[in-house]
Amino acid sequence: MLKDQDRIFTNLYGMHDRSLAGARKRGHWDGTAEIIARGRDKIVEQVKASGLRGRGGAGFPTGLKWSFMPKQSDGRPSYLVINADESEPGTCKDREIMRHDPHTLIEGALIASFAMGANTCYIYLRGEYIREREALQAAVDECYDAGLLGRNAAGSGWDFDLYLHHGAGAYICGEETALLESLEGKKGMPRMKPPFPAGAGLYGCPTTVNNVESIAVTPTILRRGPEWFASFGRPNNAGTKLFGISGHVNNPCVVEEAMSIPLKELLERHCGGVRGGWKNLKAVIPGGSSVPLLRAEQCDDAIMDFDWLREQRSGLGTAAVIVMDQSTDIIKAIWRLSKFYKHESCGQCTPCREGTGWMMRVMDRLVRGEAEIEEIDMLFDVSKQVEGHTICALGDAAAWPVQGLIRQFREEIEDRIKARKTGRTGAMAAE
Ligand SMILES: Cc1cc2nc3c(=O)[nH]c(=O)nc-3n(C[C@H](O)[C@H](O)[C@H](O)COP(=O)(O)O)c2cc1C
Ligand code: SF4
Repeated sequence: MLKDQDRIFTNLYGMHDRSLAGARKRGHWDGTAEIIARGRDKIVEQVKASGLRGRGGAGFPTGLKWSFMPKQSDGRPSYLVINADESEPGTCKDREIMRHDPHTLIEGALIASFAMGANTCYIYLRGEYIREREALQAAVDECYDAGLLGRNAAGSGWDFDLYLHHGAGAYICGEETALLESLEGKKGMPRMKPPFPAGAGLYGCPTTVNNVESIAVTPTILRRGPEWFASFGRPNNAGTKLFGISGHVNNPCVVEEAMSIPLKELLERHCGGVRGGWKNLKAVIPGGSSVPLLRAEQCDDAIMDFDWLREQRSGLGTAAVIVMDQSTDIIKAIWRLSKFYKHESCGQCTPCREGTGWMMRVMDRLVRGEAEIEEIDMLFDVSKQVEGHTICALGDAAAWPVQGLIRQFREEIEDRIKARKTGRTGAMAAE
């Protein structure tokens, strides 16, 4: 188990003082100017050496991403944009940072922006996060008053401004280029890539978009050293990580743990175990609604990291663990996700616009068993035509849960269709 002294987020549950004075007591804003004095290249090198991979879902190496930003300005400013849209169903980790430990994020924003040559950073928060943005704004105001933001921020010699921007509550605005469009005041619709944001992002200027957690962990990494961070987790899966566990466990929670913790240990140690015991487990979505589910049998030895879950054709995603026990109507659960993706599609590309609705309607019939067995394969095929054929990854996100259901619970889908035909009510959908 991760020791308390190795936790980055020491006020995750809001039990302590979240103000600047409280944050300082817990070791934040300590030697920030000294870290910045190491210089851009050194900071990027150390973040690379720590093995930190982006916490927003895709797991792209953070230091490498920072290194794509131009070293010399061609006259355009550079920007850091922090993605606090957090709309992936099941995901509720970034909000704990913003409302209880906001100084980790603000200090991270300053250091990361310096490392990328950005004098300005925007934090884009989802519209529903009202208390979170109040807490964050209060912390930003404190920092301006204390000289940690603004001219010569934290005595580092770097001028730095930080602005909060509130979204209007659309899932698609979490996709980095839709987020940039929205930040520019336009409709949140993803852009074609290339150009990538590091070449032409916000207002056509070099931009890096990073998740809240990715940025908030960097000051501690740089204070304690990349080796310390890299000592947690399996190779290529370094660090401590926030896991958010919801669903059929006795105590749902957000907890910071070492990467690569076994799923069973995570649930039993921190969540009081699965409701009704481990044997009552039916399935787990290990990384937010977009990733394919795991069947209970796969969960016995499941390791919570990027590589292990990818080998199982699932993913760590946002590390939002959705636990479902035997009482779950698994077909209906995935139908609900299909409904979500259909609702959130921005409609720009045909496979996503049409495919999400099509998949949802077939899923709707599968819930009631009103389908032919052959339609299961047809649904799988259609999901494959959506996957990888769209401008952004929302298309993939809509396809994967359906594919996971078909791969892992085909017999249950078939059983329901047969039950419908024969009038066997026991196998029908839950109300
Ligand atoms: C439909 C969609 C929604 C997304 N929502 C979020 C989100 O709410 N928060 C987030 O950090 N990343 C989200 N992402 C991923 C971002 O596009 C981007 O990869 C991420 O912010 C990069 O940060 P990282 O490198 O620190 O992980 C989303 C991606 C897609 C395709
Ligand atoms: S994949 Fe869907 S959400 Fe993404 S750009 Fe295309 S239509 Fe919009």
